[in-house]
Amino acid sequence: MKKKSLLIIAVFILLFCACKKDKTVGFIAEKAMVVSAREEASKIGAAILQKGGNAYDAMIATHLALAVVYPVAGNIGGGGFMVYRNNDGTTGALDFREKAPITAHRDMYLDSVGNVIKNKSTLGAFAVGVPGSIAGVFEVYNKFGSLPFKDLIQPAIDLAINGITVTEKQAKSLNSATERFKKVNNYITVFEKEWKKGDILKQEELAQTLERIRDLGKDGFYKGKTASLFVNYVKELGGIISLEDLEKYKAIWRKPITFNYKDFKITSMTLPASGGICLAQILKAVEPYDLSKIEHNSTKYIQLLTEAERRSYADRANFLGDIDFVNVPVDSLTNVKYINNRMKSFSWDKATPSSEVSHGKIIGYESDETTHYSIVDQFGNAVSVTTTLNTGYGSKVVVKGAGFILNNEMDDFSSKPGVPNVYGLLGSEANSIAPEKRMLSSMTPTIVEENGKLKMVVGTPGGSTIITSVLQNILNVTEYKMGMQESVDQPRFHHQWLPDVVRMEPNGFNEETKAKLETLGYKILERNSLIIGRVDAILVLPNGKLEAGADKRGDDAAAGF
Ligand code: DON
Repeated sequence: MKKKSLLIIAVFILLFCACKKDKTVGFIAEKAMVVSAREEASKIGAAILQKGGNAYDAMIATHLALAVVYPVAGNIGGGGFMVYRNNDGTTGALDFREKAPITAHRDMYLDSVGNVIKNKSTLGAFAVGVPGSIAGVFEVYNKFGSLPFKDLIQPAIDLAINGITVTEKQAKSLNSATERFKKVNNYITVFEKEWKKGDILKQEELAQTLERIRDLGKDGFYKGKTASLFVNYVKELGGIISLEDLEKYKAIWRKPITFNYKDFKITSMTLPASGGICLAQILKAVEPYDLSKIEHNSTKYIQLLTEAERRSYADRANFLGDIDFVNVPVDSLTNVKYINNRMKSFSWDKATPSSEVSHGKIIGYESDETTHYSIVDQFGNAVSVTTTLNTGYGSKVVVKGAGFILNNEMDDFSSKPGVPNVYGLLGSEANSIAPEKRMLSSMTPTIVEENGKLKMVVGTPGGSTIITSVLQNILNVTEYKMGMQESVDQPRFHHQWLPDVVRMEPNGFNEETKAKLETLGYKILERNSLIIGRVDAILVLPNGKLEAGADKRGDDAAAGF
């Protein structure tokens, strides 16, 4: 009898283990960690922390290392956003987004009859916005830096001189861009050859530019030799960025978007990044529903998130733009009553067609590559940074003599109302081009707190899918109690109002779930090439240790101690 019951218990245990999918646990560190798109950059950041540097020192070292080792998105010729939380609980945000040149104008990408000229805002010198990364790095250094600046930039210089080892994914990515590098530049850039895994890529001209930044500070980029190489080459290729544009560029400290989701406090980026506002809208729309009764990635879960996303992206298209140029009703858009009202038309029985969803009524106006890295230091400070050249290798312009790639961020403006940009996003007058205006972004560097303590640092690339990838990772951890790597590994889906499709990662969702969604009127688009982000995140575990979530969709990796 005793034997029989033992056997039954053993069978149950076996069955339980077989049903339970393997949970991958990410890299664990005792007290400090950097997670980024490349192991080399994470290690450089972590070494700075090990030397006694803080999260901001590590931010600078990681950012500059990524500009060398991950040229597809890491950059000095692009821009980005940083959200931080210090160990005393204070939070803040830095906007080092690119801006339109002084001589830019509303219709600069339209032909004589008002049609958008193909590729003009994405390829070549005319697509370039005034870069913000180096101004951002020095703002961070002047406010929070603790180690000598030269120690923070030297590892990137060494990497550029000694060369980086090209990974398999990187070889593929570089090879796919060769034709466009050729088309855009009037000399053979360092990126053009038939790459294979294990090749070494040396970037001597980039190293020289980094040395000028090391020796002259911000002026090593925005003035002097680098600036004239930049402006002259852009001019040669038909672009409009001037020395005055570079001289005038400033990174701006901004008040982040802060809101509560259930017991969690969330701090995310504000305009000109739409991430924080959209994340707040979507999470607030989801909050009244009891997710403990809704299975993760089930039909109901996908329905609920999709409908919340649809409504938020419709608002994004209509209302959002650079807050320094247009009046954006941020308080009204993130007001719970307004959001609940928007969700009133949601039904479990049928999809709401996007054609029936426009932007909401506001009661009065008040006032193919990016990269994200997350850092927590041994003092408890947290930094969340998303940075980009926009699409892979940006405009493909590689500044002759200076070795860095220029962004094509101008495409994030709405070239013409009703005409989608490269991510299929629509915009309105709020995001039209104007001199020195910043283009609307989807970047969503985010920090989550629980009971006044740091819980999670998260963000991702992925164009329009950035917001929804961050959203799903927050819900994976807060509602479905997943670990960080387990969360990052989950298949993701995305809806952005228009086009009216639910984008899903192939092979990630079960057939029955998809069939049910289709019966309810949801159009599903599964394709391998869909950009659905590469989330690099850190979770503070209950024992105080840190768990990394480094996205296996890329070469992403964590380092720490
Ligand atoms: O700022 C934005 O929203 C876009 N420029 C981000 C581009 C991006 O994420 C591309 N990555 N895959």
